[in-house]
Amino acid sequence: MTLMNRQYVLARRPTGALQESDFTWQEAAIPEPGPGEALVRSIYLSLDPANRGWVNDVPTYRPPVGLGEPMAGFVIGQVVASNREDLAAGDLVEGDGGWQDYAVYGADDDVVKLPPGEDLIARMSVRGVTGLTAYWGLLDIGQPRTGETVVVSAAAGAVGSIVGQIAKIKGCRVVGLAGSDEKCQWIVDDLGFDAAINYKTENVLKVLGQHCPDGIDIYFDNTGGDILQAALFRMNQGGRIVCCGVVSQYDTATPLPGPHGMPGLLVVRRLRMEGFIVMDYDDRRAEADADLTAWVAEGRLKYKIDMIEGLENAPRGLIGLLHGENTGKRMIRVSEEP
Ligand SMILES: NC(=O)c1ccc[n+]([C@@H]2O[C@H](COP(=O)([O-])OP(=O)(O)OC[C@H]3O[C@@H](n4cnc5c(N)ncnc54)[C@H](OP(=O)(O)O)[C@@H]3O)[C@@H](O)[C@H]2O)c1
Repeated sequence: MTLMNRQYVLARRPTGALQESDFTWQEAAIPEPGPGEALVRSIYLSLDPANRGWVNDVPTYRPPVGLGEPMAGFVIGQVVASNREDLAAGDLVEGDGGWQDYAVYGADDDVVKLPPGEDLIARMSVRGVTGLTAYWGLLDIGQPRTGETVVVSAAAGAVGSIVGQIAKIKGCRVVGLAGSDEKCQWIVDDLGFDAAINYKTENVLKVLGQHCPDGIDIYFDNTGGDILQAALFRMNQGGRIVCCGVVSQYDTATPLPGPHGMPGLLVVRRLRMEGFIVMDYDDRRAEADADLTAWVAEGRLKYKIDMIEGLENAPRGLIGLLHGENTGKRMIRVSEEP
């Protein structure tokens, strides 16, 4: 346990690809919780592609991180001291604790108390934002039916690897795209995808045609860019495109323009293309959790953790995530579990 509050603050806004030097490491005194506040020690810090968007000076579904402020990030931690009626020392909680050892949560901050004995790693992956995003995006936006063909990009990543497995549980044919042969092998051999495409070495449009002989009914889009472009041309009439994220376009000052053939293809093929944010489903969390927990217990849903040791590696870890270093859910162990 550290005696100081080590943290990364945002030093400058990236102008192109994110650099480690966009963050400054500093050590501050551990803050004292004021009236109505709780002090929380970070245990696990989630690294998410969306973090890249938060450092631009543009609001997303949250305000941008301010210059000189601790970098934002989703954290599971333990309450150290509390002046909040709803929290006591020792409680396990999740919230936006940021890239630091300790965070103070005020009365207005969203913080969720976890049940004692909770599996914290599962809570940050398959039963957390990752699993819930895959679940609601595929099932509520995609609405898969038995026998349909589902294609998912960033398929060896946190969300994509869960999407493909849920689609298999729902009786679909599943094709994943990933950025290395090892990742492609993992999703087919270990996760049960029907086929995989290495989008870095194969002609995606052509190979999608081979692996999806009956066309694509659902394209779960984690990447946007060239893969979205190719998938669009292979969509079946009445197909659904689930817009989950645009990871191919986050880390650049010059994102590609939108795909060709739009909106004509949507019209002619009667496609539905719909975005969502996982928080839209917060009030239905128990429903998703029951299914995800059961599928994991039955061995039908596997999840892989890409754990990085030490808060000091957060910038490097995020940059690597954006460049495809990870397989499965990337997170940082900031301190040991109690
Ligand atoms: N809508 C929501 O509420 C919500 C919630 C959570 C996440 N998301 C989105 O879901 C997507 C996946 O997030 P995640 O947390 O599961 O991350 P992740 O997939 O574990 O990690 C990102 C992956 O993106 C791939 N990638 C990077 N650049 C790429 C490019 N140019 N083209 C194709 N693939 C590229 C890399 O794998 P390769 O080796 O395969 O390139 C990398 O491993 C992201 O777009 C994220 O923003 C949305």
